[in-house]
Amino acid sequence: MDSVQEAGAGGRRHEARFAESKFKAQSKFMPRPLIIAIDGPSGAGKSTLGRMLARELNLLYIDTGSMYRAVALAVMESSISSTDDVAVGSLAARVSIDLRGDPDSMEVTLDGRDVTESIRREEVTHLSSIISAIPEVRRAMVERQREMGKLGAVLNGRDIGTVVFPNADVKFFLTAVPDERAQRRFVEESVQDPNVDFEATFVDMTERDRRDSTRADSPLRIAENAVVIDSTGLSIDEVFAKMIAVVQATLATPGDW
Ligand code: DC
Repeated sequence: MDSVQEAGAGGRRHEARFAESKFKAQSKFMPRPLIIAIDGPSGAGKSTLGRMLARELNLLYIDTGSMYRAVALAVMESSISSTDDVAVGSLAARVSIDLRGDPDSMEVTLDGRDVTESIRREEVTHLSSIISAIPEVRRAMVERQREMGKLGAVLNGRDIGTVVFPNADVKFFLTAVPDERAQRRFVEESVQDPNVDFEATFVDMTERDRRDSTRADSPLRIAENAVVIDSTGLSIDEVFAKMIAVVQATLATPGDW
């Protein structure tokens, strides 16, 4: 699978750079791939903080939500009905999805086409939450995510610490009160569409969270040993400082590293 090989190569490059990072100097143990899982509901700051952590630690950044979004877009562009689980599952297994570039300029491609912008559309956001409940879709994505992340990565999503990498070195569960999460989403969406409505954003977000946390396969939940951070009322920098402190503590603990 081309996408996996490409991502794997990216992982090796990141691992090489990680060897030079200041975090390695703090550990007297043999360096090995560091896997950091970040889960949580939408609008909790996972993407921003995941990117910041990946940059700081020189690790590959894998935004797994982009992959479900790319599958949703592929479904929308096909003649397949989104309610046909078998056909959607088989499409998910067939399409090639690549995440390329640095954490800050991540490009998402679907069968070689740049879909970085289009997967952020509202209809794609909505459908991604629906098709991600299909077990065959999850199986196809999880397999790729494990392959992509095995050489070290910061991964964010809903099931990273519970299913994709249950043995991740560090697991975070980021959350915030719904009002604040919806407010952050609203600010983000307003940049693209000045007519966006806060009420609609709030309703859509809570509905998506409900679906993501109640589905039968890999629902959003706090993984065992996850460090829960409630970012309500905190700045991004304050949350980042807490996360870095947890990573440093892990690197300094022999049994955990
Ligand atoms: O993180 P996001 O909002 O871009 O994710 C889009 C959808 O994909 C989200 O509603 C749930 C799903 N998702 C998932 O089921 N598992 C993941 N690991 C990541 C995202």
